[in-house]
Amino acid sequence: MANILITEFMNQKQVEQLSALHNVNYKPELYSNKEDIIDNSSDVHALIVRNKTNVDMQLINSMKNLKVIGRLGVGLDNIDVAHCKEKNVPVIVAEAANARSVSEYVMMGLLTLFRGIQSSTRNVLKGEWDRNKHTGSEINGKTLGIVGIGTIGQIVAENAQNMGMKVIGNDIEINDNDGLWDKLNIECCTFEELVRKSDAITIHVPLTNKTHNLFTENEFEKMLRGSYIINSSRGGIVNETDLLKYLKNGHLGGAMLDVFEKEPLNDPGVFSNVKNLILTPHIAGLTLESNVRVSQTISNNVLDYLKSGGK
Ligand SMILES: NC(=O)c1ccc[n+]([C@@H]2O[C@H](COP(=O)([O-])OP(=O)(O)OC[C@H]3O[C@@H](n4cnc5c(N)ncnc54)[C@H](O)[C@@H]3O)[C@@H](O)[C@H]2O)c1
Repeated sequence: MANILITEFMNQKQVEQLSALHNVNYKPELYSNKEDIIDNSSDVHALIVRNKTNVDMQLINSMKNLKVIGRLGVGLDNIDVAHCKEKNVPVIVAEAANARSVSEYVMMGLLTLFRGIQSSTRNVLKGEWDRNKHTGSEINGKTLGIVGIGTIGQIVAENAQNMGMKVIGNDIEINDNDGLWDKLNIECCTFEELVRKSDAITIHVPLTNKTHNLFTENEFEKMLRGSYIINSSRGGIVNETDLLKYLKNGHLGGAMLDVFEKEPLNDPGVFSNVKNLILTPHIAGLTLESNVRVSQTISNNVLDYLKSGGK
């Protein structure tokens, strides 16, 4: 029997599945206090986290018996993966388990931004009936630029094409002559071309040293006037101060942000009174369905790993 520590929320059924075979310490709020995690960690064999637990060198070293980490999601920027490798501790991710949810979130954002519809409820409730003010655009026929053609980027491309969008893309790992571009019917572009040609841009890359501040004043200036940007990948990839400047000066038509440099926001007020800006609290990948899939994938894979005897 192994000791499993879960520091963020996991679907109840899968917590029970793990508990039937192992000692499970399920503390969904534990992520917020590192000292508490360390206090609970000395005999942990498997650690299960989402994106809020800071699994740094100190935490990993405090878990002397750690065999495996399960990540309820895909982004690994909260885990010191290099140190895990050194310690021979595999990190299991829930690959593709929430990709559909993120993709639907992006489609919702595209439709909402192009129609400029998020202020209409407020205006109708105020007694306004200004149909001209609420005349938006179709997404059909528009060009969507996707940065990062991985699991999520590919599903977004398919959904956008199904609604009549032309899709162009950029991915540092996929060569210009790779057959994937033709297969997915995506025009391969340089990053600069994508920035200049897109009516809307959606970002699906991990947060790394190379992608931090991928979109700053420099890119916003080159984007088409009136175009849109959606970031549901990671905070810090879009520079928030620069984005606000280009939304406020009217160069950009709107934006939707699910992820932020600091979560929750340090100073939410800076985002207020900005037209056509949609903000969500890091929920692009979070739906009832994905929550079950993510928890099931991690539960199954952690159980398999422990059953195989680990390292
Ligand atoms: N907001 C949410 O709820 C949520 C949910 C799931 C995933 N995410 C984020 O979305 C990201 C993408 O997820 P995925 O499953 O598609 O990952 P993935 O690994 O399948 O795809 C990422 C792609 O980005 C490419 N890439 C990396 N750096 C790049 C760069 N500088 N320029 C262009 N392309 C680059 C990679 O080659 C890869 O093809 C995750 O890393 C995670 O941070 C957010």
